[in-house]
Amino acid sequence: MRHFLTLKDYTKEEILEIIELGLKIKKEFKAKAQPPYLHGQTLSMIFEKSSTRTRVSFESGIFQLGGHGLFLSNKDIQLGRGEPVKDTARVISSMTDIIMIRTFEHSRLEEFAKYSSVPVINGLTDTYHPVQLLADYMTMIEHNMHENAVVAYIGDGNNMTHSWMMLAAKLGFELRIATPKGYEVNEDVMKEALEICQHSGGKITVSNDPNVAVKGASVVTTDTWASMGQEDEKEERQKAFAGYMVDDTMMDLGQEGVVFLHCLPAYRGQEVSEELLEGPRSLIFKEAENRLHAQKGLMVWLDLHR
Ligand code: CP
Ligand code: NVA
Repeated sequence: MRHFLTLKDYTKEEILEIIELGLKIKKEFKAKAQPPYLHGQTLSMIFEKSSTRTRVSFESGIFQLGGHGLFLSNKDIQLGRGEPVKDTARVISSMTDIIMIRTFEHSRLEEFAKYSSVPVINGLTDTYHPVQLLADYMTMIEHNMHENAVVAYIGDGNNMTHSWMMLAAKLGFELRIATPKGYEVNEDVMKEALEICQHSGGKITVSNDPNVAVKGASVVTTDTWASMGQEDEKEERQKAFAGYMVDDTMMDLGQEGVVFLHCLPAYRGQEVSEELLEGPRSLIFKEAENRLHAQKGLMVWLDLHR
């Protein structure tokens, strides 16, 4: 049995296999010919943070696969009142077939997975958001942006940055990160990603200059400056991130045909301009839709490997 906690635990071949399976199911689904791959199965979805895309894509996804989704907010279940993670994991996994969790510390997810008897999927932690990257790379494949990709990530060194680092390291493409001073990526994640790069041909560089990172890039991406749990730092971060808004002028430094990705939710006028977000270079809504298809691929893959 496999969990899906970070891309670090997956080989290049496995990551591509999951995405290809998602693309196959997407095609079947669009043709109204998708088999009920997970007939009668229940997915538990535990949310300790807010969500639009993750909730809707997982809940619709499991339903479309012939199963049932249980939305479990920490406001409603005993976990939110202090019931231990290890007890919650054993109880829920004894009654349902797959579990998705969105939480704070990555170690909380790891503890849950350790005590779960069924596959656990990371629906975002403070450190990683790997399901988002499955959808992002699926979108790159669909737009022929995956061969010789040079990806520029501009903004906060956060869970999205770390996930891009793992994807670049595993698949062997170039990732250039630009963060303001004091908002750099986690050093341990960097060390691990660079070690993987030694064997994969991936390349990861960091700087404090967005224009240098975007120069010649084929894909540019960013994320909110204040992630969930950092609401108190909003004002201070807006000052620190001045000059980091991705807009069409910055995008002009990229390769011809450069595209823009964002996991959403986006804050217009902060990390990205309204014009870029709504303009022809932006693939954001295709990317968001692919959360559904990529995660259906993931759930079916995990079921095949138990
Ligand atoms: N991108 C993403 O995970 O969005 P939600 O927070 O809406 O789930
Ligand atoms: N970095 C953001 C991603 C939201 C999908 C957060 O953690 O809030």
